Amino acid sequence: MLRNKTIVLGITGGIAAYKAAEIASQLTQTGANVNVIMTEEALQFISPVTFRALAGRPVVTEMFDLASEFSIEHVSLAKAADIVVIAPATANIIAKLAAGIADDILCCTVLATEAPVLIAPAMETNMYTNPITRDNLAKLKARGFVIVDPATGWLASGREGLGRLADINDIIGSIRQVLGRGGDLAGRHIVVTAGGSHEPIDPVRYISNRSSGKMGYALAEAARDRGAKVTLITAPTSLPEPVGIDVVKVGTAQEMRRAVENVASRADALVMAAAVADYRPIKAAKDKIKKGKAGLTLRMECTPDILGTVKGKFVKVGFAAESNNLVENAREKLRQKGLALIVANDITANDSGFGSDTNRVTIIDRKGKVDSLPLLPKREVADRVLDRVVVLLPKPRSRRPKKL
Ligand code: CTP
Repeated sequence: MLRNKTIVLGITGGIAAYKAAEIASQLTQTGANVNVIMTEEALQFISPVTFRALAGRPVVTEMFDLASEFSIEHVSLAKAADIVVIAPATANIIAKLAAGIADDILCCTVLATEAPVLIAPAMETNMYTNPITRDNLAKLKARGFVIVDPATGWLASGREGLGRLADINDIIGSIRQVLGRGGDLAGRHIVVTAGGSHEPIDPVRYISNRSSGKMGYALAEAARDRGAKVTLITAPTSLPEPVGIDVVKVGTAQEMRRAVENVASRADALVMAAAVADYRPIKAAKDKIKKGKAGLTLRMECTPDILGTVKGKFVKVGFAAESNNLVENAREKLRQKGLALIVANDITANDSGFGSDTNRVTIIDRKGKVDSLPLLPKREVADRVLDRVVVLLPKPRSRRPKKL
């Protein structure tokens, strides 16, 4: 979705300027056109040559550069932009923008653009928490700027604190989210489940499965990037929490069921990518089970079938991890659980499924249509699944004009 988007990346003079190189690189790799603007102070921290090489485009550093490909630079850059991103944003640029000062190429571009503007502040804790900066940020936020809050961590002063540039994944996730506004899932609420549930045996042990959660997270991010409000109900995984998504962390199948039921009535679609344990120990031991000579027998009971029992008007999508008779087994699950779609994958294929970044799936619908997709990155599989969901959603209710 970033492919062919034109992004102005504004870099200001803070130590985190070096991290902007990674942002420029990642955006360029996704196929975006990245026009870098560097303020005079930013040039003290990192060379424009770095960005010229990473983005493969001229870097703008001054207001009137006769050698540049842009005519009147701030105007043409502002006009071409799908989004303007300032990362890192110093207290100074934030103050200037809040005051409407236009004394450098970056401020002028921001003032001249109709594109959304995203700001990722990075500065010393005291500067960030100073009421002046807080007020300036609040002002920009009220004017529609998107602020990616800084993180807590190691700062240039050698102290730990709030003010460190947000994680690059969060900045890029926010860019995707902003660009996805107005996408084909705008105004929809999509609930996605992910990961393998943990069913406790005792305080230190549990029963789970090999699900990494990657497919569910890819679905949640893809739905977000198409404009949806997304709730991700996730069993424990090692994946970073995605930005712009309501994340509900659960452990057991029972907890997942409760979380799904809490949000289902407001959902337009439920996509159950989680690998829910089918059995759980009848009773988890209160204390750690001690090693004995006689071995151990666990008495298990069935967990609730979340997808099979959850009620509501939303589009229900299930996954089927199968090791044999893929299509027949998946069809049977679709029928039994009353699904609109089922996404089946063959877990014996070693290039797809658990832990992998790719997946080879077959999507089956209620009419029996079988669509076998090639091996694809999970993110692309997610978009193909959502393409099918979109057409199943009821038309959004049009708002009646208010009577005068
Ligand atoms: N599922 C669920 N609740 C469960 C088990 C599974 O909601 N207790 C959901 C999964 O998230 C998935 C679909 O049902 O979307 C199919 O899961 P799968 O494990 O393939 O099927 P099961 O119904 O558990 O059947 P089996 O394990 O016998 O293949």
